[in-house]
Amino acid sequence: MRIVITGAQGQLGTDLRQTLREHQLTLLDLPTFDLTQPDCGRVIVDAAPDVVIHAGAHTDVDGAERNPALAMAVNADGTERVARAAAQVGARLIALSTDYVFDGRGTRPYVETDPANPLSAYGESKWVSEQRALACCENTLVVRTAWLYGLHGRNFVKTMLHLATERPCLKVVADQRGCPTFAEDLAAMIGKLVAHPAQGVLHVTNAGHCTWHEFATEIVRVSGCRVPVEPITTADMPRPAKRPAYSVLSAGRLHQLGFSMPSWQDGLQRFMKALPAVS
Ligand SMILES: NC(=O)c1ccc[n+]([C@@H]2O[C@H](COP(=O)([O-])OP(=O)(O)OC[C@H]3O[C@@H](n4cnc5c(N)ncnc54)[C@H](OP(=O)(O)O)[C@@H]3O)[C@@H](O)[C@H]2O)c1
Repeated sequence: MRIVITGAQGQLGTDLRQTLREHQLTLLDLPTFDLTQPDCGRVIVDAAPDVVIHAGAHTDVDGAERNPALAMAVNADGTERVARAAAQVGARLIALSTDYVFDGRGTRPYVETDPANPLSAYGESKWVSEQRALACCENTLVVRTAWLYGLHGRNFVKTMLHLATERPCLKVVADQRGCPTFAEDLAAMIGKLVAHPAQGVLHVTNAGHCTWHEFATEIVRVSGCRVPVEPITTADMPRPAKRPAYSVLSAGRLHQLGFSMPSWQDGLQRFMKALPAVS
């Protein structure tokens, strides 16, 4: 298959490149491919792909609060350009989105049809991006994921491992619950979805859920460090962007399609085993 990957140098994009290496890939990212440029879709049309995987995004959640116009330009307008280009060549679009489209007031795992109500500028820009993708390209699958960490790029797991070597104690929020997701596992699932006809919205995360505090405790335990991990509240650590308190994504539709994801603990174990080879 001919596949275009946007955000190809990013955390997920790097794993997608590896997972999909048997295909004919067109890899797009800054600085040569800029989602804010009105004609950025041309390179996609020229590649005439069967599938476009749109992983490029403005992912700085707190930065988006300071510059919501940039988040909207990259995530919403950029996604519309990608979707229009995909539609023009009859390609299937797989567009990445986030659990941050929800407000986190739920008490059971969110299903794809639950109403979105983003709390942050980043969440809002991704919610608009989902709607533009679905409106502008008929054959679209929006894949919502969460709490993503991979071997390539900066993320929570690497930050905790680093801080564990520097600080006598880690303080981590214990009142936000979600689904940590290993980018390699997500890339592998997207590899299966490129050949699947599913459309609409689909939740894809590692199985199970935890708080950031529970996640950090497991990271420290698996790493063999002995540093204590102390629970704090979101109010103890104010940040520019509000995060949902509960953003667990249901795997119900994924299971209906005949797929399943490994547990988050399993993903973390494999991440930790692979990390020394890349760092
Ligand atoms: N990370 C998470 O926890 C998380 C959670 C849920 C959903 N997601 C979604 O999953 C997808 C992949 O996330 P990720 O963690 O792989 O993100 P990432 O590492 O930040 O990768 C995004 C890529 O897009 C590029 N990009 C930024 N602005 C661009 C522009 N104007 N034009 C073209 N490319 C641009 C980035 O380049 P620079 O690095 O040079 O800016 C980067 O290479 C995104 O859609 C994200 O919203 C992520």
